[in-house]
Amino acid sequence: MIKVLFVCLGNICRSPMAEGIFRDVIEKAGLEREVMVDSAGTHGYHIGEPPDPRAQSTTARHGISIVDLRGRQVEAEDLKSFDYVLAMDDENLANLRRLPGSARVRLFLEFACATSTREVPDPYYGGPGGFDRVYDLLEDAAQGLLAEIRQRLRDAKPT
Ligand code: 4NP
Repeated sequence: MIKVLFVCLGNICRSPMAEGIFRDVIEKAGLEREVMVDSAGTHGYHIGEPPDPRAQSTTARHGISIVDLRGRQVEAEDLKSFDYVLAMDDENLANLRRLPGSARVRLFLEFACATSTREVPDPYYGGPGGFDRVYDLLEDAAQGLLAEIRQRLRDAKPT
């Protein structure tokens, strides 16, 4: 099982959107038995809360429901148990790097093909257009991550 964790600040906007989008990508690829997807926030402001309504409506327009997700805070144990810990921006990355065992932490947009943007911008205090921009960036990087995981599963197969 390959385990993927998306991390942002509050776990109510970017990382639950990433979780929903990537789960959809994995299901469409028929890999749900091989890949597990989760998300968390570096801060504990929104523990137990559903995603922001703007995040929910943005993914819903693309046929993806994230209503059942609930905010949780990232734990040091996550850095041991997840194969990919993918931060949305440099601040999340810096927060994660303060935890022990953070060698495998990376920026999610490293996997994006259609943009040279490094960070998924925080949409929390902006208008609804910010969530569409976030969606497009996440969808792009999700396709790149799927390609990487497919390759990894091929490499792992006994010949
Ligand atoms: P997220 O967005 O990190 O993408 O979930 C935010 C959510 C909440 C806050 C900031 C960003 N906040 O300050 O409460």
